[in-house]
Amino acid sequence: MADILVEAREASLVYGKGTGVVEAVARATCTVEAGDRIALVGPSGSGKSTLLYLLAGLERPSSGQILWPPLGDARFVSPIVAGFAFQSPNLLPALTAIENVAVPLLIAGVAVAQAHETAAAMLARFDLVDVADRYAEDLSAGQAERVGLARALVCRPSMVLADEPTGQLDGSTATRVIDRLLEAADDSAAAVIVATHDERIALRFRTRWTMRHGALETAS
Ligand SMILES: Nc1ncnc2c1ncn2[C@@H]1O[C@H](COP(=O)(O)OP(=O)(O)OP(=O)(O)O)[C@@H](O)[C@H]1O
Ligand SMILES: [Mg+2]
Repeated sequence: MADILVEAREASLVYGKGTGVVEAVARATCTVEAGDRIALVGPSGSGKSTLLYLLAGLERPSSGQILWPPLGDARFVSPIVAGFAFQSPNLLPALTAIENVAVPLLIAGVAVAQAHETAAAMLARFDLVDVADRYAEDLSAGQAERVGLARALVCRPSMVLADEPTGQLDGSTATRVIDRLLEAADDSAAAVIVATHDERIALRFRTRWTMRHGALETAS
């Protein structure tokens, strides 16, 4: 059996209070192992983004557990363990594209010159050389989305979580971006989980997880 990177045990996340309570994820149990290729599908509002946040340590479960065996007792999931590409890219507007991609490397302690060189190579992978020095707020939605993916991958994390990474892209660009994402993941033997509404993209992943009203089904 491959190494387990993250495990959810009956993990739930409840948003809101009183009559406004939403159980966005309900008792999810799953594991992600090294090399996994998982498509996370399900209707809008079914809890896909919330499950990805839990698996990446960006949200804490209201009940149940999320465990990262490679981290032992550490509470911070570093960008070396999990790279996250957000559904809306969440780039830092005051930084350029290349600076945004370099940020996780700088957090991980890489020197500035090396971080920029590595960030430039990752931008090139996603056909973004021409916009490397453009401020994030001046990028198109599709460019910003690809910068977000480059940022998620730049530390060669053990696990990449991408939340609808092609939502702003035309069909052929989307195919190319998924090719590049999978190539980059293969290079670093990373697991990949992609939330998507695009059936053509979901079909490229070996494993399919489905969310319905917060409930996760992992049987293929
Ligand atoms: N910060 C929040 N506060 C309150 N409710 C929230 C919050 N974030 C999400 N929700 C609710 O939790 C549920 C799951 O949302 P989530 O964003 O995980 O769904 P999703 O499957 O990713 O949807 P989409 O396909 O539209 O991105 C929804 O009912 C949503 O309204
Ligand atoms: Mg979502």
